[in-house]
Amino acid sequence: PVPLPVPLPVPLPVLLLFLSRFLSRFLSRFFSFFSPDNLLVITAATEETDGFNRFMRTSREFNYTILGLGEEWKGGDVARTVGGGQKVRWLKKELLKHSDKKDMVIMFVDSYDVIFASGPEELLSKFSRLGHRVVFSAEGFCWPDQRLASKYPVVHTGKRFLNSGGFIGFASDLSAIVQQWKYKDNDDDQLFYTKIYLDKSQRTKFNMTLDHRSRIFQNLNGAVDEVVLKFERAKVRARNVAYDTLPVVIHGNGPTKVSLSHPAAPGAGTTYLIRLFIHNNVVYHEHHIHRFWQRHKSLYPDAVLVGPEENLQEDKARTMAVESCKKDPECDYYFSIDSDVALTNADALRILIEENKSVIAPMLSKHGKLWSNFWGALSPEGYYSRSEDYIEIVQGKRIGLWNVPYITQVYLIKGSVLRSKLSRVSLYVEQGMDPDMVFCKSIRDQGVFMFLSNRDEFGRLVASTNFNTSRLHPDMWQIFDNPMDWREKYINENYSKIFEDKSFVEQPCPDVYWFPAFSDKMCDDLVETMEDYGQWSGGSHKDERLSGGYENVPTVDIHMNQIGFEKEWLKFLKEYIVPVTEKLYPGYYPKAQAIMNFVVRYRPDEQPSLRPHHDSSTFTINIALNRKSIDYEGGGCRFLRYDCKVESPRKGWSFMHPGRLTHYHEGLPTTRGTRYIMVSFVDP
Ligand SMILES: *[C@@H]1O[C@H](CO)[C@@H](O)[C@H](O)[C@H]1NC(C)=O
Ligand SMILES: *[C@@H]1O[C@H](CO)[C@@H](O)[C@H](O)[C@H]1NC(C)=O
Ligand SMILES: *[C@@H]1O[C@H](CO)[C@@H](O)[C@H](O)[C@H]1NC(C)=O
Ligand SMILES: *[C@@H]1O[C@H](CO)[C@@H](O)[C@H](O)[C@H]1NC(C)=O
Ligand SMILES: *[C@@H]1O[C@H](CO)[C@@H](O)[C@H](O)[C@H]1NC(C)=O
Repeated sequence: PVPLPVPLPVPLPVLLLFLSRFLSRFLSRFFSFFSPDNLLVITAATEETDGFNRFMRTSREFNYTILGLGEEWKGGDVARTVGGGQKVRWLKKELLKHSDKKDMVIMFVDSYDVIFASGPEELLSKFSRLGHRVVFSAEGFCWPDQRLASKYPVVHTGKRFLNSGGFIGFASDLSAIVQQWKYKDNDDDQLFYTKIYLDKSQRTKFNMTLDHRSRIFQNLNGAVDEVVLKFERAKVRARNVAYDTLPVVIHGNGPTKVSLSHPAAPGAGTTYLIRLFIHNNVVYHEHHIHRFWQRHKSLYPDAVLVGPEENLQEDKARTMAVESCKKDPECDYYFSIDSDVALTNADALRILIEENKSVIAPMLSKHGKLWSNFWGALSPEGYYSRSEDYIEIVQGKRIGLWNVPYITQVYLIKGSVLRSKLSRVSLYVEQGMDPDMVFCKSIRDQGVFMFLSNRDEFGRLVASTNFNTSRLHPDMWQIFDNPMDWREKYINENYSKIFEDKSFVEQPCPDVYWFPAFSDKMCDDLVETMEDYGQWSGGSHKDERLSGGYENVPTVDIHMNQIGFEKEWLKFLKEYIVPVTEKLYPGYYPKAQAIMNFVVRYRPDEQPSLRPHHDSSTFTINIALNRKSIDYEGGGCRFLRYDCKVESPRKGWSFMHPGRLTHYHEGLPTTRGTRYIMVSFVDP
């Protein structure tokens, strides 16, 4: 207490002067406990992992003074985590130096999985408001000894159990606590602190409490659902929505990792030599690989091709490939890409290199689906868990470089990292585990961060589960599973121009429109599929099928349902023909129903032409599948009412005309070769 020499009587201003002096002296004494100058943050680390560097970066950002305790790593087990007991031993020695400093506040935090969300002032003000001399972080799991759970004081809201990954307190108290350590380096530090906390006399003596509601420390283990990222202009801050707090220290303990975005590294302009390693374990694809190889082998000297005959398992093959980079000091990057990846961005590799990360994957997902090549979080067992921001990242609503616990199918690894931090581990092989799981776990265990970028559009994942290799052209059936790939392969490259440019729709006869629909590939694959199927109908067959009282114009044809393509065809009508119809016949909204969908074959010696008839449709589409003058002569269509002929069909282009009443028409004779057309009676 400061004696107050107050003379009497005292004029008011003087009293105020005294009071304010007293107040400021009192306040500065009180608050000097909580001044950043008296704060020391201590951490323990034995190796500069990516996590440690991230910790140091955020501490510099907020101007924390960090004292790093550590010794050089002496080999043995993986150096990612420091033995718990070792940390207490170092702390015991260090805190002895500060035990007399009455005003000093010390915070101890882990570093590999910790970041700061705010600065020393906020930290100290929150500490002071907690009103205790020692505060440990809290979590929902009682670890490592579950049996101690019942000994914990009951809490009404918040997390009940102690976590020793972060604590803060006055130097004298913390020192007195850690001086009790007399155990081995591999003994558990959390158990040590827990026992002190659970001892009521010690808890009172050191005035200890837990940060039940994450005012300072946010442990993410088991609490991921409580934490959301709050985006504010250039800043991101984690908020605990369960307790409505803004924690200062974020501890990604357990299986979760914190997502952060970082600025990109400047680009590099180097030319690289690519050495190719191809592993194919599927006989069906041998000829695809062969075709690729014939075309491109000159670009890839020293390539290694492993085919199905070698029966090399996936984990072994991946190991073989990565080892060839690891062993070669000249190998700067290892880029792994699986066959179900469609990279459409020609700059993908350059972009990933320029991001300058040890391990990085481009974000890819199945078109229009949430299925992707990364996980935002891990379950406690190390399997998939959806992170709070997963959907936004997949849908590109949050854009950045994300530190994630699992990537697959396509990624880039620096050769230097393979030869240093990852040199001792088996990246893919572990009994009873999938290679992708082993890969990510090995990398996490070495303290190397895996990044995922959705800052660019890279491509997509291909769905392959329904790929039916017993079909002649299985891709034709992929309109549902891989609509983008289907479109690229099977829709005419000028189709979309129909909606932009008048010259891509012609009107050769009244209300007969003509526009590009199929690609050459679609025409060829469809004809080949039909010829392969081979069961062309004759006239009588046709009559029978048409016995619904409709038209009786027999053609030599094969229907879509015969080759199991009806669902796919109707999807094509809906996706690609309906929009054209709505544009060309305004006010008509097709239901896009069709039972009559077939490929017709015209030959001079089989059936060369078709007599005049109506179609049992609201409108008909009629797509030419091969080339006049080259594949056949003659052919075409005449609309009798207008006496208008279209005699030069274009391969892949579709006619569209009303079916009944006005558009009575006939098929003109094919005089040489074979002519194929695809016909569909829409909305019968
Ligand atoms: C950190 O310190 C620097 C230099 O003293 C200052 O410019 C900066 O504003 C400080 N940053 C914060 C977050 O307080
Ligand atoms: C110890 O903690 C209690 C709250 O449980 C608080 O009221 C008290 O002021 C603290 N005592 C000291 C000496 O800090
Ligand atoms: C790439 O990252 C490494 C290690 O983090 C750093 O030393 C180097 O300067 C970075 N390169 C560029 C071009 O930013
Ligand atoms: C795969 O294709 C064959 C031949 O076309 C067909 O018989 C079979 O039903 C198809 N299988 C599936 C699952 O669609
Ligand atoms: C698409 O249109 C362009 C320009 O008219 C033309 O050169 C090209 O051959 C067309 N492509 C197809 C597949 O018809």
